Amino acid sequence: MKKFVSVTIILILLCTSIFAACDSGSEKIRVATDATWPPFEYVDTDTNKIVGFDIDLFTAIAEEAGIEFEFVNVEWDPLLAGVAQGTYDAAISSITIREDRLADMSFSDPYFVARQIIVVKTDSDITGISGLVGKKVGVQTGTTGDIEASAVDGVNVTGYDEIGMAFVALLSSQIDAVVCDTPVASGYVSKYSNLKAVAEFPTIEEYGIAFPKSSDDLIEKINAALANVKADGVIDQLVQKWLVD
Ligand code: ARG
Repeated sequence: MKKFVSVTIILILLCTSIFAACDSGSEKIRVATDATWPPFEYVDTDTNKIVGFDIDLFTAIAEEAGIEFEFVNVEWDPLLAGVAQGTYDAAISSITIREDRLADMSFSDPYFVARQIIVVKTDSDITGISGLVGKKVGVQTGTTGDIEASAVDGVNVTGYDEIGMAFVALLSSQIDAVVCDTPVASGYVSKYSNLKAVAEFPTIEEYGIAFPKSSDDLIEKINAALANVKADGVIDQLVQKWLVD
């Protein structure tokens, strides 16, 4: 009996140490996000935590896929460059899947559809894209808002590191309009009664999770988990939680 007990104890000890070894061996992936883009990714000033639609979504996907991860908060410009260079294993940051970006990085299946929209002050006479000609338009540098606004001839585009800075400039009338993704625009418009959204660009954008090229195994796992999470209604729940007032 005594022997049995000690063998059992040794076995338990052995198992736990093997388990611990395995555990420390399973590596955490680094997931970049530019947490300046409410309500998809931003820092909650009360808790100092990164929160939002993308944060909840990636957390659900990782749980489903059994992947350990940590978020790394990085600015938009170094985020895209960092994914391309393999500094991060993945990035979730309302990133629009674009042909030109596919040259430098890979994407998961799409998980959300957005558009570019023009936001102005309520007393503005800008009603559409042509109204931007000759006006000062704020964007987050390097985003699709920047790309679309810059493509309109005669528009004076000012790029900001964060979209919040563009909205501050708009609210203080330093610029005439902001162009950004629809969910972000809706958030600012509902927060500030002197702002209104006036017109969308004729483009449709799909968000995807970005990866360095040749991350095929990880992308496969993430896509499988994303499909399950979608089928479980998680995206619909996140729309209710973060986008519907
Ligand atoms: N969807 C836009 C793009 O891909 C803007 C994304 C900006 N995201 C952010 N977290 N700042 O260019």
